[in-house]
Amino acid sequence: RKVTIVGVPMDLGADRRGVDMGPSVVRIAGLSAKLAELGYDVEDVGNIPVALAEMRRATPADAKHKYLAEVAKSNALLADCVEGILERGAVPIVLGGDHSIAIGSVAGVAGYYRRRGQRIGIIWIDAHADINTPESSPSGNIHGMPLAVLLGYGPEVLTHIGGFAPKIHPEDCVIIGVRQIDEGERQLARQLGLRIYTMRDLDERGMSAIMDEAIAWVTRHTVGFHATFDMDFVDPYYAPGVGTPVPGGGTYRESHLAMEKIHDSGKMLSVEMVEINAVLDAHNRTGELGAELLLSALGKKIL
Ligand code: ARG
Ligand code: MN
Ligand code: MN
Ligand code: MN
Repeated sequence: RKVTIVGVPMDLGADRRGVDMGPSVVRIAGLSAKLAELGYDVEDVGNIPVALAEMRRATPADAKHKYLAEVAKSNALLADCVEGILERGAVPIVLGGDHSIAIGSVAGVAGYYRRRGQRIGIIWIDAHADINTPESSPSGNIHGMPLAVLLGYGPEVLTHIGGFAPKIHPEDCVIIGVRQIDEGERQLARQLGLRIYTMRDLDERGMSAIMDEAIAWVTRHTVGFHATFDMDFVDPYYAPGVGTPVPGGGTYRESHLAMEKIHDSGKMLSVEMVEINAVLDAHNRTGELGAELLLSALGKKIL
């Protein structure tokens, strides 16, 4: 059993600095050593190169999709890297960085399986839907757009990374934990018939039932799924180090249960942890939780 870690110190898709240190703080929490304790053959290939905001000044042309060229470039590199990890027979573990990196991660996984005539699903765990387009986005931040891009909506330089679009079908995707959605996102989600489990659904039905249903849903037509975990899904009480916190999130245990059930499904193809902002959490509780949640997704058990 092989796993390969890749970091993406990306903050250009978000409004704030500090999320570029996410890969470091999850590594510092001991991810590699703890994966090795679980019995994995662990490789860490380091970080994907990402431009620094200081390398240029944002221009007005950027306003609808800030740092588009730089975000596209790193995501293209990430897609190739993730595909290579799968080719070597390992499970990719991608450490963000802001959520714009899901564009490259999923491009790599979907591309790998597409060449083998198979499609993949996605489980998107997040306070947000991340399904804005440059036209609907209130912020111009690309980390609010990756799911739309993966479904084929948005700038071609993003939607066509890897040479094909869309990367996933709306019917193979779920979003879990939503409690903040913009008007344009609501419209696109409705138009596509996307399956979204809001915090209210979790309150009423519980994480266990929601995960069973979500996993069954995204594996109806697919070989398995990519799991992408935005740390802002977790209530800010447990995960203060995020750039776009929203009250009323998942508890510590609900978050672990989601990852434990993802592992037990046997259908997780790759996993990603994003939006951990080191500057906003001096004690690194958030980075430690990120590492622990990844361990749950990879089979760590209480007993
Ligand atoms: N919906 C808001 C926007 O488009 C917030 C997105 C937050 N996304 C995230 N990956 N944290 O700007
Ligand atoms: Mn997100
Ligand atoms: Mn989010
Ligand atoms: Mn179908």
